[in-house]
Amino acid sequence: MSILEIKELTATVDGKEILHGINLSVGAGEVHAIMGPNGSGKSTLSYVLSGRAGYEITGGDILLNGTSLIESDADERARAGLFLAFQYPVELPGVSGMSFLRAAVNARLREQGEEEVDQLGFVKIVRAEAKKLGISDDMLKRAVNVGFSGGEKKRYEILQMALLKPVMAILDETDSGLDVDALKIVSEGVNLLRHPERSMLVITHYQRLLSHIVPDRVHILSGGLIVKSGDKSLALEVEENGYAGIDNVA
Ligand SMILES: Nc1ncnc2c1ncn2[C@@H]1O[C@H](COP(=O)(O)OP(=O)(O)OP(=O)(O)O)[C@@H](O)[C@H]1O
Ligand SMILES: [Mg+2]
Repeated sequence: MSILEIKELTATVDGKEILHGINLSVGAGEVHAIMGPNGSGKSTLSYVLSGRAGYEITGGDILLNGTSLIESDADERARAGLFLAFQYPVELPGVSGMSFLRAAVNARLREQGEEEVDQLGFVKIVRAEAKKLGISDDMLKRAVNVGFSGGEKKRYEILQMALLKPVMAILDETDSGLDVDALKIVSEGVNLLRHPERSMLVITHYQRLLSHIVPDRVHILSGGLIVKSGDKSLALEVEENGYAGIDNVA
């Protein structure tokens, strides 16, 4: 069964239709990549999936494990196991990283009918996960994303993903913000979190990231539509010929 199923999805921003009928299905445990030119609607798709205010769904449906998400707000979607890592992570001045992470993890545990973790227990879990991702204790003590470098923000998002154990993770990647080491840590983080019951959608411009995170399927988004899908070789094709070589791309 598909973990995420997007059917004929149309969506508007400020009254302007950006997504014109997206169809996409991600199976259990699969990692799919979305590529596409600037302005093709990739980030819009991730915002629409997350339930961000201002992005209106005008048609179609989004199913997570067979249940429609379109009537749920962003918090409900997160608790249901949808995780979004944004292209431009927001800074939350004054919000302690530890309390932010613990609130998110506990909300998810409550939803699953499990017991919440106390502060001490949580600090231990976070430290262990952070260590694997090369995140320093100092970074954990700071306010969420405030003053973090681009690469540090990305590591922090992977840490959130590791802690939240989502069923569907969507990563909108700023490849340009990642140096070679950070890119490796992010992709290793993603690969570590691959799981038969966790699916991922990785939005990226570059084959470079996809050579570390080898996707099961690659989709090309252009002008608010998926114009081509294929296996990992499609990413190589784009790298070599650009999007002009793809059929049907306007
Ligand atoms: N608030 C808005 N009002 C009007 N148009 C918008 C708004 N937000 C986004 N758009 C338009 O929607 C289109 C898709 O933008 P989006 O950010 O989804 O592209 P993208 O594929 O993520 O691009 P990039 O590769 O540069 O990240 C663009 O033409 C953009 O100008
Ligand atoms: Mg974008």
